[in-house]
Amino acid sequence: MSWNPALVTDEIDADFASSVSDFIEEIEERLVEIAKADTAFASEAAGHIIASGGKRFRPLIVVTASFLGQAKRQDVINAALVVELTHAASLYHDDVMDEAPMRRGVPSANQLWGNLAAILAGDLLFSRASAAVIKLGMEYVKVQTATFARLVQGQLSETVGPTPQDDPLEHYLKVVADKTGSLIATSALFGGMVAKLPQEQLTALAKFGEEIGILFQLSDDIIDITSDEAGKKPGADLRAKIPTLPILLLRKDAREEDQKLRELLSGDLSDDAALANVLDLLRQNWCMEAARLEVQARSALARSYLEPLPDGHAKRALEALCDAVATRTT
Ligand code: FPP
Ligand code: MG
Repeated sequence: MSWNPALVTDEIDADFASSVSDFIEEIEERLVEIAKADTAFASEAAGHIIASGGKRFRPLIVVTASFLGQAKRQDVINAALVVELTHAASLYHDDVMDEAPMRRGVPSANQLWGNLAAILAGDLLFSRASAAVIKLGMEYVKVQTATFARLVQGQLSETVGPTPQDDPLEHYLKVVADKTGSLIATSALFGGMVAKLPQEQLTALAKFGEEIGILFQLSDDIIDITSDEAGKKPGADLRAKIPTLPILLLRKDAREEDQKLRELLSGDLSDDAALANVLDLLRQNWCMEAARLEVQARSALARSYLEPLPDGHAKRALEALCDAVATRTT
C-alpha cells in the first residue's frame, strides 16, 4: 500500500513520501496480523474490513505528523494501529446500523454472516485497539477513551436526529465533528505525541486533524452530487435521505425559487429518472457553490492550524493534504 493516489501531490518530496510509504506498508502487514483470532471464522470475520482495503487515511496522518519530531518507529506503528483498528471496528457497527449490504466494493460482514457476528467482529478489533493503546501509555489511553465516547455520541446524535429546537445544519456539523473529526484529530495528535512535540503544537495538530476530518466528510457530500457514473454512483445520499451540506444549506436559506426543488428532494427518489432530474437541478443551484466555498474556507482554516508546527517535509505534506482533501473528486 502506498500513498493514496488521490492524496499525492507534486508538492511532496519523493524521499519523504517513500519513508511514509514504508511505514504504511508495515502498518498494513501488522493490521492483517493483529486481526487474527483463535478460530478460522473469527479471523476471517475480524479481518474482513481490513482485507477489503481502504484509504488508510488515519495511519497516513499519524505517520506524517510523527515526522514533525523524533519518534520511535514502534510507537508510530502502534499509534497508527490504534486509530485504524478503531476506525475499522466502528465500520462493522456502522454497517449493521445502516443495514449496508456492501462496504469497499465487497459484501459487508453483516451481509455475509449476520448482524451478531458483524458486531462481535467489530468488538474484537476494538479489543485489539485497546491492547495497542495500552502499550503507548496512560496519556494515550485517556485520549482514546474520550475519542471513543465522541464516536459513539456522534453516531447516537445522528441516529436520533435534530430536535425541533436544533438547527439541522449545526446538528449535522456536530455529528460530523464527533463521528469523523474526532478520530482524525486523535490521529494527528497521536502522531505529534509519539514525536514528543510541545503542548502548543499538539493542540494545533488536534485542531488541524478535527478540521481536516470534517473537511473530508463535507467534500464527500459534494461528490455525492457532482460525481459522474464512472466514479462513485451519484445521488446515493440523496436517495437515502442522508443529510449533506448542499441540501442543508438549501433548506436553511429557504429561498422561494427553490421551493419545487426542496419538495422534489423530500419526495420519492427511488426512480432513476427522478434522481437524475434532481441531480441536474442541484448541479445548477447556488447551494453547490455555497458548499464549495464552505469547504474552501475550512481547508484554509485547517491549513492555518499548522502554522505553529516546525517547517519541513512533514508540515508541507500536511498542508498539501488540506488542498488535496478540499479538491478531491473521488
Ligand atoms: C461511517 O459513517 C461511520 C463512522 C465514521 C463512525 C461510526 C461510529 C460508531 C458506529 C460508534 C463507534 C463504535 C466502535 C466499536 C469504535 P457513514 O455511514 O456516514 O459512512 P459510510 O458511508 O462509510 O458508511
Ligand atoms: Mg454507513
